[in-house]
Amino acid sequence: MSVQDGVVLVLGATGQQGGSVAAALAAEGWRVRALVRDPASAKVRALAATLAPNRIEVVPGDLGDAASLRAAMKGAYGVFSVQPSSGQGAAHGVSDADEVRYGRAVADAAAEAGVGHLVYSSANAAGAERTGIAHFDTKSEIEAHIRGLAVASTIVRPSAFMEILLLPGLGLNEGRHRFLMRPDQAMQVIAVADIGRIVAGILADRERFRGRTFEIAGDSVSGNMLAEKFSRAAGCPIVYERFPDALLEDDPLLGGLARLLDGGRLAGAADIPALRREFPGMLSMDAWLAGPGKAAFERALRTGGGLALR
Ligand SMILES: NC(=O)c1ccc[n+]([C@@H]2O[C@H](COP(=O)([O-])OP(=O)(O)OC[C@H]3O[C@@H](n4cnc5c(N)ncnc54)[C@H](OP(=O)(O)O)[C@@H]3O)[C@@H](O)[C@H]2O)c1
Repeated sequence: MSVQDGVVLVLGATGQQGGSVAAALAAEGWRVRALVRDPASAKVRALAATLAPNRIEVVPGDLGDAASLRAAMKGAYGVFSVQPSSGQGAAHGVSDADEVRYGRAVADAAAEAGVGHLVYSSANAAGAERTGIAHFDTKSEIEAHIRGLAVASTIVRPSAFMEILLLPGLGLNEGRHRFLMRPDQAMQVIAVADIGRIVAGILADRERFRGRTFEIAGDSVSGNMLAEKFSRAAGCPIVYERFPDALLEDDPLLGGLARLLDGGRLAGAADIPALRREFPGMLSMDAWLAGPGKAAFERALRTGGGLALR
C-alpha cells in the first residue's frame, strides 16, 4: 500500500490522541478519514483547518453505532482506535461498559471490513493481570478481543501524557506542583504529539509491527526532576510534593493510581532508548516544555482552579 493512496480512519480525531494521529498521518501523505459525532462542531472545523483540505474527509458516526463504523471503514487501509474512558471523569459520560463496547465494536468492524491494519491505543498499565483500576482493565479486555480477531493489528500502550502534568489544580500557579509520584520515584510520560508520530510510523510498516503490543513513552521523570525542570522553564523555584495522604485516602481513583505506581505497574516499562531509535525525534520532557508544551506550561503558571486530574 502506497501511503499516497491510503485512507486511514481515525477515531477521536477531535481529541488529543486522534488529533495527534490525524496530523502525523496527513504530514506523511496519508488521507485521513475522521469519524465524528458532530461534523458542524467547532472542534471539527478546527481539525479541518489544521490539515490540508485534500488530506481530510469528515464522516458522521458514533462509536456506539456499529453501522456508522462499518460505513466509515469502507475502502480504508488502516484504522486508529481510541476510546474515551471513565478515568476522564463523569463529565465525559462514558461508563466502563461503554468503553469496552466501543473498543470491541471498532475492532469487529475493522475485521469485518477487511482493513489492512488496525492500531489500538491502550494504556501502559493494561496487561494480563487485572489492576483494579477500571479504565485500565477495560483496555486489557479490548486488547484481548483484538488479538482474537483475524485482522493485522498493533497495540500501543501510552504512558501518562506530559499534558496531564499541567492540568488545573496541581498548584503550578502557586509555585508548587503535586502529582502521583513520590519525590524520588520515577514515572514514564509521553508527549501526545509523539503518539501520532509513532502511530504513523506503525501504519507505514505493517509487516514490522503487526502482532506487536508495546508500551510507549518519551521520558521518565521523578517528582524531584519535575521540580528542577519546571523551575528552570518557569525561571522561578517550583517545589514538588506528592498528593497528600488524606487526598489519596479520600479519592479512590487517585489512591488506586498511587498504589499502582508504588507497585511498579504504573511507573511504565517502555524501552525508551529503543523507541528513540525506532521513532526518531521523540520528545523528552525538557524538549516538550520548550516546544509543544510551552504555551500550556505558561498558562498553568497563571491558572488556578480545582483538581481536574483525570
Ligand atoms: N491522559 C493520560 O495520561 C492517558 C494515558 C494513557 C491512556 N489514556 C487513555 O486515552 C483515552 C482518551 O484519549 P484522548 O485523551 O485522546 O481523548 P479525548 O481528548 O478526550 O478525546 C476523545 C475523543 O473521542 C471522541 N468521542 C467521544 N465519544 C464518542 C462517541 N460516542 N463516538 C465517537 N467519538 C466519540 C470525542 O469526540 P467529540 O468531538 O465528539 O467529543 C473526541 O474526539 C482514554 O481511554 C484514556 O484512558 C490517557
